[in-house]
Amino acid sequence: MFFNKSDIGKHRFFKINKLESLKPFIDNYKSPFYLYSKKVIEHQYELFRKNIPGNFNVFYAQKSNPNKEILKFIHGLGAGCDTASLMEMKNAMDAGFDNLHLMLTGPGKTEEELKFAISEKILSINVESFQELELINTIAKQTDIKQDILVRINPPFDSSEKNRIIGGSGISKFGIDLDQIPEFIELAQSMSNVNLNGIHIFNSSQILDHNKILQNTKDVINTAIHFNEHNDLKVKRIDLGGGFGIPYSEDESEMDINSLGEGLNEFFKEEKIRKFSEKVEMYFELGRYLSGLCGIYLTKVLYTKISRGKNIAVTDGGVHHLVRPALIGQNHPIVNLTALLEERTSKGNYLIAGPLCTSLDEFDDNAELPETKPGDILAILNAGAYGFTESMPDFLSHKKAYEEFIN
Ligand SMILES: Cc1ncc(COP(=O)(O)O)c(C=O)c1O
Repeated sequence: MFFNKSDIGKHRFFKINKLESLKPFIDNYKSPFYLYSKKVIEHQYELFRKNIPGNFNVFYAQKSNPNKEILKFIHGLGAGCDTASLMEMKNAMDAGFDNLHLMLTGPGKTEEELKFAISEKILSINVESFQELELINTIAKQTDIKQDILVRINPPFDSSEKNRIIGGSGISKFGIDLDQIPEFIELAQSMSNVNLNGIHIFNSSQILDHNKILQNTKDVINTAIHFNEHNDLKVKRIDLGGGFGIPYSEDESEMDINSLGEGLNEFFKEEKIRKFSEKVEMYFELGRYLSGLCGIYLTKVLYTKISRGKNIAVTDGGVHHLVRPALIGQNHPIVNLTALLEERTSKGNYLIAGPLCTSLDEFDDNAELPETKPGDILAILNAGAYGFTESMPDFLSHKKAYEEFIN
């Protein structure tokens, strides 16, 4: 994705934060860091609220970025929080989220995590195996609590991920296969200390086609209706997970959230769907959509050279701070902030590589940039989600990245 000074504002981060406002961060640059903009998160939240019907609640998927200031900010916007570990639950509580606005989901919850969730009376534990169900019931019995749960289902449908992130349908560690759900419902309903009151289905992330999200949402709601009609599942909640994507490359464009909202409104006009959904709380657990565009990772070019005719720029930051390009195989847009501010006109294609002793340590093998020189500060965009904490900071014992806010 090539940006010049006149079109950098097409990117949400720079639409909200003018290029010039980054100058102090560039002038004072010491080592690689993440720079976040809360205003971008707010914009994304408002986009969702403006377009998606009000019967969908927003929970923030903390795993996408658990920065404490970000958590507090998102809590202030009115969202709940999706958590996946003991620390995530504690972080959410510290940030101000009410326990009744917390859910716990994940295929490998420990006894310690379940005990904590149950004793703190969080809104829902989303159960991913029969053995987990037994354990929850046993723990809840010891404390005389009836714990609200959802069953996470592994259905035969998905929204077709481009790069493998959650994994789609098929063999999966996430959830319980659809054909085992009648047995699960029967077992849960026979237990004294769990309240099974709905379903959770999420198996595809980074989806940009609103039609796929729409179809998936319909399929999930119809699945809940099916179990309501055939297995007497009293559905009070439906959790649809995350999955709303953001564009990373030139051939991707923003997910059309307006059309998604229209499609959902249309769907809820059907008499059967309207009647059913009136009594049901629905949840999207947005991660990337809220936090992805809010963050950029800044790194300095240390050296440039040419290898077999290819321009190389070696940076002081690498995949130890931002592993996503190597892990998922998806490049992020890169801009040369120094060159844009200086309005350099000549361009080149560069392999952008970090300092680590592995060839995996590349951000892009063919980034189109203005002429790039040692000392230039590059920004790797869309680094707000699955960036800072989805990294491997101890590899090669370099300085750790740090986090800053522009607003
Ligand atoms: C249970 C659950 N909910 C929500 C999310 C957020 O997904 P996304 O970032 O695609 O919105 C994830 C991501 O892994 C997840 O595991």
